[in-house]
Amino acid sequence: MGVVENKIGSEMEVIEGYFPATAMPDRNWWAALWPDPEGIVRMLGVEPGMQVVDLCCGDGYFTAPLARIVEGKVYGVDIDPAMLERTRAELERTNSTVLGLVCADARNLPALIPSKVDYVLIANTFHGVPDKTAMARTVASMLKPMGQLAIINWHRLPRERTVVMGVPRGPKSEMRMSPDDVRLAVEPAGFTLDRVVDLPPFHYGAVFRVLAD
Ligand SMILES: C[S@@+](CC[C@H](N)C(=O)[O-])C[C@H]1O[C@@H](n2cnc3c(N)ncnc32)[C@H](O)[C@@H]1O
Repeated sequence: MGVVENKIGSEMEVIEGYFPATAMPDRNWWAALWPDPEGIVRMLGVEPGMQVVDLCCGDGYFTAPLARIVEGKVYGVDIDPAMLERTRAELERTNSTVLGLVCADARNLPALIPSKVDYVLIANTFHGVPDKTAMARTVASMLKPMGQLAIINWHRLPRERTVVMGVPRGPKSEMRMSPDDVRLAVEPAGFTLDRVVDLPPFHYGAVFRVLAD
């Protein structure tokens, strides 16, 4: 781990710290799989008035709907500058604003965001984080009392069964996590699992609350 080759356009760029198996999917099949990203984040408890971080935001697929719900009180963080450019374009296209887009390793979160937030979303990335409990501990340190961490993951189904537009998609079968796998990684970092929301056809959202000190 540590250095991963990421394909950007026709060039291969090396991004240090890139989590394995977390490249942004192509928009065509991603949009077919997630036709209503705003509905998804509402189902996971994001509400107006919250301050949110979209950690590992990719091309902004969830950042723009988050921005609409919380009226711009969202940060997007991603290690790949090309992804943040795409997020910027998506925000422009949808006429949305954010508090900031930060190009950095998610593990440096406290240094990146000026104050604690109500809600952190990690979508379609946690499976690739090498030290998941340490990542969750970092998130815990950035949450206000009763703050929430939502993790969207592919269900632990064999990859050949998660077919979108005729092709098996998502991380390798052996990288996939059940909700209980996620709970076992996150709770030792100072969280309690609040609920698991099924996100058909192939995902779930596990929503945690940070424990009081
Ligand atoms: C599979 S994409 C998911 C994007 C978005 N959350 C979604 O669900 O549409 C994962 C993203 O994580 C980013 N990423 C990978 N390693 C990272 C790291 N160490 N810190 C921050 N972002 C990272 C990648 O650049 C990529 O954009």
